[in-house]
Amino acid sequence: MYVQAVLLKSSMIKNFGTKKLINKEVPYVDLGCLTSNLDTKVCVSQQALFNRHCAIVGTTGGGKSYTVARLIENMVANQSKAILLDPTGEYSVMEKGVQSVTIGEDSYFPYQKLTREDLFFLVKPSEGVQKPKLLEAIRSLKAVKIYQKMKSTSEKNGVQNLLKAFVNEDETLVIKAGNNIVEYERFSTKYFSDIESDNLELSIKHLGKQVINECISPPKNSKTFGSRNENDVNFCYGMVNRIYNLINTKVYDDAFNFRDKRLDDQNLTAIIDQFIKEDQQDNFVLRIGFESIGYEFQAREILANAIGRYLLKLAREKQFKENPLVFILDEAHQFLNKIVVDDFFQSTALSSFEQISKESRKNGLFLCLSTQMPRDIPTGTLSQMGTFIVHRLINYNDKEAIRQSCSSANSDILSYLPILGEGEAILTGVDFSMPLSIKVSKPNVPPDSSTPMFKVQK
Ligand SMILES: Nc1ncnc2c1ncn2[C@@H]1O[C@H](COP(=O)(O)OP(=O)(O)OP(=O)(O)O)[C@@H](O)[C@H]1O
Ligand SMILES: [Mg+2]
Repeated sequence: MYVQAVLLKSSMIKNFGTKKLINKEVPYVDLGCLTSNLDTKVCVSQQALFNRHCAIVGTTGGGKSYTVARLIENMVANQSKAILLDPTGEYSVMEKGVQSVTIGEDSYFPYQKLTREDLFFLVKPSEGVQKPKLLEAIRSLKAVKIYQKMKSTSEKNGVQNLLKAFVNEDETLVIKAGNNIVEYERFSTKYFSDIESDNLELSIKHLGKQVINECISPPKNSKTFGSRNENDVNFCYGMVNRIYNLINTKVYDDAFNFRDKRLDDQNLTAIIDQFIKEDQQDNFVLRIGFESIGYEFQAREILANAIGRYLLKLAREKQFKENPLVFILDEAHQFLNKIVVDDFFQSTALSSFEQISKESRKNGLFLCLSTQMPRDIPTGTLSQMGTFIVHRLINYNDKEAIRQSCSSANSDILSYLPILGEGEAILTGVDFSMPLSIKVSKPNVPPDSSTPMFKVQK
């Protein structure tokens, strides 16, 4: 049978959604009870709930955050791992089984793990002169890092370090003007994959100066780089200023440690690596709080996208094959469907969540998105969602989006969507034979999301 719904003691629907796992023990999520019969508990197979990604939708105050908290408590009880992106800090009250970090306070996402594209929309280089100079400067500073790393070994082994003739006295910048092209090419060919890899393993504080160093005239012959070109320098000053502003903008430094002042143990990627590796631990959920990150300059969107991309990379490396990970994104509308537009109206979509939804199921990375309107979710991502927990929805188009996305939903039950009470929801999806109207139980530690009350002024 496609779906197994076992009634236990006639008061529990247990492992609803269990498919092909009938003889295997699978963890289940105790969501709450049936709306029509509060004595009947609804326990859903955790596999069915998440394995084709899960969306929690509903208007503000419908109960999404409470449902997320309920899911988290179940994940902790089942000793299954999840990472929660908490944009407002409302889950910081949850402590049992939850490791908590707050970006900008006790952690940062290292800028070295951003991509060149991320840096492009932060620095906004113009297409003509600035973009190629910025790209060259990134390559050169990555070469400096490689040079610094190799230095001690090559000295020990008495091997000539090819870049030595090109680095300045402090060994922080590359100087090409007037130097030998062939020698430089030999170095960059040797370390081609490291130099061209899409990360920023460099010291960003030197980027402005390196851009100026890249402003050289075309070579007069095939052997020697040209000399400094004042025209190009003038073209690049604006961008160099933006680079300095970027490094000195508080919200970016909070998020990405651009000033290189923070400690290694606050590095979020290292914290994530540790979290997913550790077998013997008390914490099963990692909360990444954004409450200290400002809303300016699209820093939050770039940050969330970068975290998503990092998890996607781990999934591609098959790190979640043995132990799947659920990536929960509350208030996903803040991060989905986002486009970064530069000064020249070139736009780039931030798409790591869409990529996760399309390719990561097989690698054990599951998305759980919570958002107010199904329209918030890009169509490509929405169609990948296998499970829906739908709280109150009033708008006709939103109801239609749900109807279209879940084949099994019968229209009768969806007509209740506008009148669902707080915490009530309809559970539907490809792994569930029929939609269920449920009342989600209040989590033991509810998120701090209550509505402020007006007071009578005396
Ligand atoms: N399962 C539940 N049991 C009891 N009360 C609930 C439940 N779900 C929601 N509530 C009540 O509704 C209020 C709002 O819920 P919640 O914060 O989860 O809404 P939300 O859908 O996340 O809203 P927003 O989109 O604004 O974040 C809660 O403060 C709580 O009082
Ligand atoms: Mg909420």
